Amino acid sequence: MKRWSLLFGLCFIVLACSEDTAEYTAVPTPVALEIPDNFPAPLYDFETNPLTEEGIALGKSLFYDGQLSSTGVISCGFCHEQAFSFTHHGHTVSHGVNGLEGFRNSQPLHNLAFAKEFNWDGATIHLDLQPIIPITAEVEMDETIPNVLSKLKASPEYPKLFRAAFGTDSITSERMLKALSQFMLQMVSGNSKYDKYSRGEDGVTLTAAELAGEKLFASKCANCHAGSLFTDQTYRNNGLPFNTRFPEEEGRMRVTGYQEDYYKFRVPSLRNVEVSFPYMHDGRFATLEAVLNFYTDGMVDNGNVDHSLLQEDGRFGIALTNTEKHDIIQFLKTLTDHEFLQDERFAEF
Ligand code: HEC
Ligand code: HEC
Repeated sequence: MKRWSLLFGLCFIVLACSEDTAEYTAVPTPVALEIPDNFPAPLYDFETNPLTEEGIALGKSLFYDGQLSSTGVISCGFCHEQAFSFTHHGHTVSHGVNGLEGFRNSQPLHNLAFAKEFNWDGATIHLDLQPIIPITAEVEMDETIPNVLSKLKASPEYPKLFRAAFGTDSITSERMLKALSQFMLQMVSGNSKYDKYSRGEDGVTLTAAELAGEKLFASKCANCHAGSLFTDQTYRNNGLPFNTRFPEEEGRMRVTGYQEDYYKFRVPSLRNVEVSFPYMHDGRFATLEAVLNFYTDGMVDNGNVDHSLLQEDGRFGIALTNTEKHDIIQFLKTLTDHEFLQDERFAEF
């Protein structure tokens, strides 16, 4: 009896294994990330999650799927709209399920492969983990990961998409998160007028105002909005008055608990900033003019303002004339990457 059951067991294992190998027939097609010449090396470890055509296609399908939320209608793309560099157009702070409000402005999604940390306060240290926050946040998608996985398993499409991307149709949270990362990682924005000008491409030149703006920017802004990503990826307090609408907001201190991090925020990249309004972590400024007026006249000393913003007369702020503000804005508009904003690879339809 015992031997029979052993034999039966062995047969079962052999069968199960051969079925498993048979399942591994789908071989995804590798995709190389296109990195612009003027960019730094990516920080994402692609060896743990190589980009493939099928992985990206699955990620795209998930990104635009309302099933990731409890109400079935809030997808990632709801708060991250391509035309506005994947921000939530028209919203100071994001709106999720049942119109509930969060307390932060939706961040643009681009060049995530080069980012060290994520969110306004750096709460997420790995891109693969980021989607867990919106999926489970009550004011965003208000869903659970096991529920999402059951919905995907029950769908007629997803088992096939998972098989194409990862070889078998097993649907796990790790695979779901990796596919979402793959889709977002390919969102490289590096073809703005300014990029083409910096790389000396197609005879692109800047106007006199744009060139003047570039110079001003280099001396007054680029110590924080640094390098080709337009952020030094640090957390800084740029002197914004406290927003009493959101008393829970403490900036980076929410993550570290240190008083010295109070109201510090991750320096945002200014790429595509022309279309990613409204601005700042709470979307308080609707226009770039308002942002520059803040830098010259609106800063408050909340005890923790970055010292690079201290002027010679002991006042916080950046000295700029109206013409200089205009020129800086003209320069910022050269950072708009129209090809990225219209790239069909990232489009919902
Ligand atoms: C309800 C609106 C909303 C939804 C839905 C949403 N997000 Fe976001 N997203 C935000 C907000 C707001 C932030 C900034 C959060 C913060 O800093 O605390 C953000 C930040 C991010 C970031 C960090 C970007 C950076 O530069 O640090 C990534 C990546 C991201 N979201 C991806 C996703 C993905 C993937 C989904 C779907 C699973 C998703 N988001 C769904 C509003 C949303
Ligand atoms: C001391 C560092 C520092 C300097 C100098 C600085 N910024 Fe900022 N900037 C920040 C930080 C930090 C934020 C985000 C603050 C927040 O959201 O609370 C920010 C936000 C912005 C935003 C909003 C971007 C968005 O996506 O919401 C714009 C636009 C901007 N800065 C432009 C400029 C310009 C132009 C200059 C020069 C005149 C400048 N900054 C100088 C640190 C700096």
